[in-house]
Amino acid sequence: MPLTRKAYRAAILHSIADPAEVGIEASYEYFEDGLLVVDGGKISAIGHASELLPTLPPDIDINHYQDALITPGFIDTHIHLPQTGMVGAYGEQLLDWLNTYTFPCESQFGDKAHADEVADIFVKELLRNGTTTALVFGSVHPQSVNSFFEAAEKLDLRMIAGKVMMDRNAPDYLTDTAESSYVESKALIERWHGKGRLHYAVTPRFAPTSTPEQLTLAGQLLTEYPDLYMQTHISENLKEIEWVKELFPERKGYLDVYDHYKLLGERSVFAHGVHLCDDECARLAQTGSAVSFCPTSNLFLGSGLFNLPMAEKHKLNVGLGTDVGGGTSFSLLQTLNEAYKVMQLQGARLSPFKSLYLATLGGARALRLEDKIGNLQPGSDADFLVLDYNATPLLSYRLKQANNIAETLFVLMTLGDDRTVQQTYAAGALVHQR
Ligand code: GUN
Ligand code: ZN
Repeated sequence: MPLTRKAYRAAILHSIADPAEVGIEASYEYFEDGLLVVDGGKISAIGHASELLPTLPPDIDINHYQDALITPGFIDTHIHLPQTGMVGAYGEQLLDWLNTYTFPCESQFGDKAHADEVADIFVKELLRNGTTTALVFGSVHPQSVNSFFEAAEKLDLRMIAGKVMMDRNAPDYLTDTAESSYVESKALIERWHGKGRLHYAVTPRFAPTSTPEQLTLAGQLLTEYPDLYMQTHISENLKEIEWVKELFPERKGYLDVYDHYKLLGERSVFAHGVHLCDDECARLAQTGSAVSFCPTSNLFLGSGLFNLPMAEKHKLNVGLGTDVGGGTSFSLLQTLNEAYKVMQLQGARLSPFKSLYLATLGGARALRLEDKIGNLQPGSDADFLVLDYNATPLLSYRLKQANNIAETLFVLMTLGDDRTVQQTYAAGALVHQR
């Protein structure tokens, strides 16, 4: 069925710049009684309803929402599909958590029926939480990526994913080889990269689980296909960092391992970066690489507190990540609730507009997709949300006390979660209705 022109009337808010660069007031556009016009899966106009309505045909189909806020779809720059079944696993920090819970859970994804079932649950959960684009780790099995992309393709979602490359320091049942990881990644790239709104990410799990040979081949894939993504983990946990130093004594530090194997660049996203030093932030910024800030995971696994002000000082691209299953929620609203507390514990403030930026335009910039997603400028993909001010009795009562959009936004991020997302639209189509 061809998509026709449609309009959505409600309060509308989107980021147009990083508050750290332009100040808070110049970082967003807000229309108290706004109109968003969608044509053929893309946004064709945004503005005040009073100004736009007279320019439209009188019979245009308009969805009018009361007590609701339209925002861009959220962007999750770090999440693991095969960890959906182990969110909230008790008691361990990173390295023991991987061995005790993560690897056994990921071992099941060679089985197509299991991978299909979890991919379906995972995609529904993303959309229920208002996430319209995610950068996704599969398992070591190509099947995990095939199942995910098949589910995403049916809904014409903009998604990025890759098969984990992991050829050492993991159980035999879960390792590939340098050669097989190269061949399997290449087959997935040929099948999926650039198909509809799908993109592929070369995915070495982290330095400890790849041999130098495998990291070399990961870098080779990036040179063979220049617009591929690269995703991995870095400097999340102190024991992990010590281990990397033991495994790569010839390198200056953790980031230098990835740098040596040519894995830094404009489409490279490094998850966590909790313990990065000043020089490493500078090098990441210099190469156009991005970091995914994953506060619920960093607190849950006791990893540490991400230093956002240091990243800002270096003008480093930062997106927000849930890191499910190390993270404890698919909701980027809940992730921002924890991000605020992570800043509080460091004596810093996270303004609601910086938070909005991180969950939308900042994520889009980290992924080099800001001309397509993360904001509602005309020409962008029509990936947007309707957030319900009356989602819960407490939210409804609390928001009646809010005096302006800054307060409203902050309360949405503090009390909000999946219940707040009334509708999710992707490429102009309704893909979730609460
Ligand atoms: N480092 C290597 N693998 C993982 C993972 O699956 N989750 C997290 N949080 N860190 C990792
Ligand atoms: Zn992770």
